Amino acid sequence: MENQKKVMVSGIQPSGDLHLGNYLGPLRHWPEMIEEFDCYFFMADLHTITVRQDPAALRRRTLTQIAQYIACGLDPEKCVLFVQSHVPAHSQLGWVLDCYTMFGELSRMTQFKDKSAKNADNINAGLFTYPSLMAADILLYQPDFVPVGEDQKQHVEICRDIAERFNGVYGDVFKVPEPYIAKVGARIMGLSAPESKMSKSAPEGCVFLMEKPEDIMRKFKRAVTDSDTENPVRYDPKAKPGVSNLIQIYAAATGKSYEAVEAEFAGQGYGVFKSVVGEAVIECLRPIREETERLLADKAYLESIWRAGAERAERTAIKTLRKVYKKVGFLPR
Ligand code: TYM
Repeated sequence: MENQKKVMVSGIQPSGDLHLGNYLGPLRHWPEMIEEFDCYFFMADLHTITVRQDPAALRRRTLTQIAQYIACGLDPEKCVLFVQSHVPAHSQLGWVLDCYTMFGELSRMTQFKDKSAKNADNINAGLFTYPSLMAADILLYQPDFVPVGEDQKQHVEICRDIAERFNGVYGDVFKVPEPYIAKVGARIMGLSAPESKMSKSAPEGCVFLMEKPEDIMRKFKRAVTDSDTENPVRYDPKAKPGVSNLIQIYAAATGKSYEAVEAEFAGQGYGVFKSVVGEAVIECLRPIREETERLLADKAYLESIWRAGAERAERTAIKTLRKVYKKVGFLPR
């Protein structure tokens, strides 16, 4: 019988240690999804080399990320966990899609503009064509949804455009997926500069999943707020970006609504508020950190997971790749 389950695919780059934005944005929702959907989750290592990486550090972070995926609740029996570079179809379809992606549309990508400004001495072709590789990552698995944070929406949209363009020429080859963006946590801002998203490139305002509780608390205590004194804990991202971000983080970490958070801290100052948010995050991350450490001690187990994951991912990916090769007119081997 045909499998009727909906399909999801998503990945995270092991270019830095996983942080609270990665977790509270997309990752914390993935464990619920594996109960309902056929899910593919990968470590996007091919994407990381668009920026120079230290090879040993990249290997270590990729390994840690697999352990973290499992520690966050991604049971490898119930979903497919794999390393992107272990499934060559990603690069192979990436090349084909490069030829169906326009220079103009790639030039408009916000991430390309940001990253080329930050890496002015290394504006390589991979950084530019990154979205067509990402489209390949997605389209290979014929997914219905792509769960990501707000900042990746533009890349899922260009993926849809590429899929529609290709389908327009060759018939219905690709399913055209929807981005899936959770309302709370879609864009976690940096603690020290709440006008920019939380990112490893501003580490003083970024909370990493493996960080020690005392370091996490220190970052929360230093979080930028404002000088409002009358009923200061209010959600108003325009006027109060720092406070609203802390409310968002607390709501995401505890499952409370914004209104409930405002009511809880009515009449309180920022000192208490920051400590309670810091404590909630520490408690939310503690089991993940401990389980990651336990899993990292068993490399043989992790290796068995990524090997089995690559085989399962490849079985699906190769079907799409074969179809694409046939459609564009490549002579079968
Ligand atoms: P990456 O590795 O930058 O981020 C991984 C995921 O975390 C989300 N995210 C955030 N969400 C909320 N607040 C933040 N501050 C924050 N920072 C990051 C991102 O939106 C993303 O969902 N190109 C992708 C990786 C990728 C991918 C894919 C994703 C490659 N191929 C295919 C989905 C499908 C990226 O660089 O995400």
